Amino acid sequence: MRHFLTLRDFTAEELLEMIELARTIKAQTKQHEYIPYLEHQTLGMIFEKSSTRTRVSFETGIYQLGGVGLFLSSTDLQLGRGEPLRDTARVISRMLDMVMIRTYKQSDLEEFARYSRVPVINGLTDSYHPVQLMTDYLTMLEFGKGDNPVCAYIGDGNNMAHSWLYLAAVLGFELRIATPEAYQCDPQIVSEAQKLAETSGAKLLFGDDPVAAVSGCDVVTTDTWVSMGQEEEKAQRIKDFEGYQVNEPLMAHAKDDAIFLHCLPAYRGYEVSEETFEKHADVIFTEAENRLHAQKGIMVWLDQQRNTSE
Ligand code: CP
Ligand code: NVA
Repeated sequence: MRHFLTLRDFTAEELLEMIELARTIKAQTKQHEYIPYLEHQTLGMIFEKSSTRTRVSFETGIYQLGGVGLFLSSTDLQLGRGEPLRDTARVISRMLDMVMIRTYKQSDLEEFARYSRVPVINGLTDSYHPVQLMTDYLTMLEFGKGDNPVCAYIGDGNNMAHSWLYLAAVLGFELRIATPEAYQCDPQIVSEAQKLAETSGAKLLFGDDPVAAVSGCDVVTTDTWVSMGQEEEKAQRIKDFEGYQVNEPLMAHAKDDAIFLHCLPAYRGYEVSEETFEKHADVIFTEAENRLHAQKGIMVWLDQQRNTSE
């Protein structure tokens, strides 16, 4: 049985199998052809942080696959009153078929997975957001940017930057990350990614100059400067990220046909200008929709793995 905790747990072939499934199921969904790949299955969805896309896409996704989603807010669960995570995992994984968790610490997610009898999916932690990156790659393919893309990530060296690193490192493409010095990626995650890059041929570049990162690239992306849990640092962060906004003068350094991705929610006037956001709205909202399709690919793949190992 496999879990989906970080992208580095998979080979390129495995990630591409999930993407292929997502593309097939997306095409079927567009034809109103709902194949019950996960009939009668229940997906538990534990949220310790807010969400719009993750909740709606997982709940709708499992329903369209013939199953049902259970929204479990950590404040309503006994977890919120001190029941240990490992007990929660041992209980609910005897009733559910799959679990998605959005939480703070990656180590909590890993602990849950260790005690779970069913596949566990990372719906975002402080360290990673792997389902979003599968979605972003699906979107890149759809917009013709799947073949050896040069990508630039501008802004905070956060969970999104880390998952970009692993995606590039596993699939073997070029990623340039530009962050202020005080907001670089976690050095341990960078070194894991560099190790993977040695075999995949990925080129991972780091710096503090957004223009150098974006120059001649195919895909530009960013994320909020203030992630969930960092609300108290907001005023300081806004000062520290000055000069890191993705806007038209910066986009002018990318290829003419470069696309701009944003996982959303976006804070216009901060990490992205209103003009750049609206110019790329078609890609951005296709990306948002693709959460539904990419995660179906992941869930069906995890289910197939379980069935072949039984
Ligand atoms: N991009 C993303 O994960 O959005 P939500 O926080 O709304 O789920
Ligand atoms: N880095 C952001 C991503 C939100 C989808 C956060 O963790 O809040």
